Amino acid sequence: MVVLGIETSCDDTGVGIVADGEVVANKVISQTLLHARYGGVVPELASREHAAALDRATEEALIEAGITVADIDLVAATRGPGLVGPLLVGLTYAKGLAWGTDKPFMGIHHLEGHIHGALAGSEVEPPFLVLIASGGHTHLYDVPAWGEYRLLGATRDDAAGEAFDKVARTLGLGYPGGPEIEKLALQGDELAVPFTVPMKGREGYDFSFSGLKTAAIRFVEKGYDPQDIAASFQRVVVASLISAIERAARDLGRKTVVVAGGVSANQVLRRALSQLDLQVFLPSLELASDNGAMIALAAWHRWRLGERGDGLDIGVEPYLPLGEGG
Ligand code: KG4
Ligand code: ZN
Repeated sequence: MVVLGIETSCDDTGVGIVADGEVVANKVISQTLLHARYGGVVPELASREHAAALDRATEEALIEAGITVADIDLVAATRGPGLVGPLLVGLTYAKGLAWGTDKPFMGIHHLEGHIHGALAGSEVEPPFLVLIASGGHTHLYDVPAWGEYRLLGATRDDAAGEAFDKVARTLGLGYPGGPEIEKLALQGDELAVPFTVPMKGREGYDFSFSGLKTAAIRFVEKGYDPQDIAASFQRVVVASLISAIERAARDLGRKTVVVAGGVSANQVLRRALSQLDLQVFLPSLELASDNGAMIALAAWHRWRLGERGDGLDIGVEPYLPLGEGG
């Protein structure tokens, strides 16, 4: 069973191929440099770039997998959430490919893609917790059964990755900010700058990261070292994520947690997770940020549960909640 997955919800054109649950190709054409000079993703430019890149990404993925288009059994694409134009380009391309090759088509939720990217190659079964931490999401879910997602908490303002990006900009670093902060923090003292852990002592599992950006600006003005700001900022973001996971696991009696999204690449977070008394699933670094293989993995999982695809009339859903269609 060969599944081709397409991801175009933001600024990465991803085409991945999964054969019997194994990733055999994963091409990502990143638009980071294009958008960098605008300080953020320009949706219209992103759409055009996806349209221009999809043929090449698909051809390269097929070559990497050593197959032809005729070998594909199922075509999947991200249906939402994400930017409407970029989503439309990828979903339409996938539908065209499915229609042209007379193969089934499946629309996939972007976050379900991230979850199955983290679960790649494992046979874990629910119940488990899921934390998605990316540029657009900081969402903690309880997953009592496949396809059932109970939102436990989410960010009230900025997403964790967004906070990394904004603080990086404050420190004069490049985009995306996560890897830049992580690198700079290696030389810093994580206890040197008095950031406070957001939402500490509050009930529930919500997050809040926008205050950290304001605090970072103040610490820069006060003359703290950028390395120390980076390390201390990173420490409190990780502490906030870990605290919510720990409390939710205890309150719900969960023993397993899946952590996914771009921020899951962070090594300080990974170290802190490994010290929890929980079974932790993380994506390989290749599958951590947006890519097509994770979409193919999610589709393959749905197929194994008996789903046989969607009609070609389904559309994009820029605000699709997890667990509601796709
Ligand atoms: O999942 P993703 O690739 O795209 C979205 O769907 O948002 O996540 C991108 C986000 C960016 O905000 C980026 O700064 C952050 O993930 N990120 C990191 C790291 N690598 C990427 N944050 C912290 N540490 C990292 N190593
Ligand atoms: Zn993502």
